[in-house]
Amino acid sequence: MSAVTPDQLHDDHHHHGPTGLMRWITTTNHKDIGTMYLIFSFIMFLSGGVMALTIRAELFKPGLQIVQPEFFNQLTTMHGLVMVFGAIMPAFVGFANWMLPLMIGASDMAFARMNNWSFWLLPVAAILLISSFFVPGGATAAGWTLYAPLSVQMGMGMDLTIFAVHIMGISSIMGAINIVVTVLNMRAPGMTMMKMPLFCWTWLITAYLLIAVMPVLAGAVTMILTDRHFGTSFFNAAGGGDPVLYQHVFWFFGHPEVYIMILPAFGIVSEIIPTFARKPLFGYASMVYATASIAILSFVVWAHHMFTTGMPAATQLFFMYATMLIAVPTGVKVFNWVATMWRGSMTFETPMLWATGFIFVFTMGGFTGLICAIAPIDIQVQDTYYVVAHFHYVLVAGSLFALFAGAYYWLPKWTGYMYSEFIGKLHFWCSIIFFNITFFPMHFLGLAGMPRRIPDYALQFADFNALASIGAFGFGLSQLIFIVAVVKCVRGDGKKAAASPWEDAHGLEWTVPSPAPHHTFETPPVVK
Ligand code: CU
Repeated sequence: MSAVTPDQLHDDHHHHGPTGLMRWITTTNHKDIGTMYLIFSFIMFLSGGVMALTIRAELFKPGLQIVQPEFFNQLTTMHGLVMVFGAIMPAFVGFANWMLPLMIGASDMAFARMNNWSFWLLPVAAILLISSFFVPGGATAAGWTLYAPLSVQMGMGMDLTIFAVHIMGISSIMGAINIVVTVLNMRAPGMTMMKMPLFCWTWLITAYLLIAVMPVLAGAVTMILTDRHFGTSFFNAAGGGDPVLYQHVFWFFGHPEVYIMILPAFGIVSEIIPTFARKPLFGYASMVYATASIAILSFVVWAHHMFTTGMPAATQLFFMYATMLIAVPTGVKVFNWVATMWRGSMTFETPMLWATGFIFVFTMGGFTGLICAIAPIDIQVQDTYYVVAHFHYVLVAGSLFALFAGAYYWLPKWTGYMYSEFIGKLHFWCSIIFFNITFFPMHFLGLAGMPRRIPDYALQFADFNALASIGAFGFGLSQLIFIVAVVKCVRGDGKKAAASPWEDAHGLEWTVPSPAPHHTFETPPVVK
């Protein structure tokens, strides 16, 4: 085992391949591909962010001022699609590519060439999606959920969107297969499943979710495609079909998709909290089982998105109680994070700020989720800004904050240099303050009855909308701080990071249950 050092395993310099642009196009190196996923997802995050800011500019005050209603609807739709499929999902795949092989002691991902293809499909899909703004009729305006019958009737922007969704789905499925095979087959000797860092577990379970539900989404949009062009009537009542069927198929994908976007975030937070609390993760095994329970339950709650479609009361009750049941394993996780911090010797470097910010604000999104799960309340807040507030607490303060936590945590590992704590903390505090200014007022707007996906509104909603728009521009500008932090880190402005940066700084790097074996992310464990 001592013949090959981990540095040689991961060394690019001994690789006599193409250079320059061709190196990036043809690379099979998991670190290169991870980097490309992260850069791609950040570009998409900025694109989706520009759309969000255009939406918030229009909603700054009542009356139409910046965009026409048709274009506004295209913006809300494309903002959702770009953020979900372009920003959040690929960002987590980028983390998986970078960290999974290092964490389990594998030389690379199992299918290195397929990995390259998985990535390069994404820019193609993104170009298709964005170019739909420029075709006759513009981008699809059916909402990111692409509900029939509207999506069946939209212009050719919808066809580009369907094609883009298919390509992104292929990319996701291949990425997921790669992760499953890597984690199950490529662990170093001694790295048993229950010794894996929790990030590996959360991604393994997420990969199974992806393999199970991405084909369902592909089926849903294919049925729209054939309804549009091949004379079928899956969702056309006049032809014997049912538009509500689309909602069932879509949300059978859509609810597990919510956990695809949050389980890897749970994994990242579960790596960071122990490091900065200087204690091993509390309840490692229960974290694994809670993650699996959430994933399994996520398949039987889909119709909580459809309480107003005329379901029988008994069906509503089933989906209401099943949804509430998910709060149990999620509560186990939050309890375990807090128990990990309990009596820990905590410090609040930038990754820990993002991770604790995640727990606090994401949990608020969890609570409003429970409120939306109550069928009689949901019927009141359906399609209002309350729902918009809820899922932005989950996806921004949840998924996005965890991504930033992980980025600051592993930037020293990725670049070889420490980032600036001042810049990182500035980024965090600006983000969490402006995030709450943007989205907290939306709870009140929703409870007062303001509908979502509407370019104009009654005068009574003016004050909270102005506040939300100010918050949104503050939040958007705050993200430029992250660019500064990353550029300075990559340029090597900070001090040099050790092979195990946080262990170097703190003397501890707990990632596995007590007693924690020595683990640096770079040294494959060896059985003596
Ligand atoms: Cu759901």
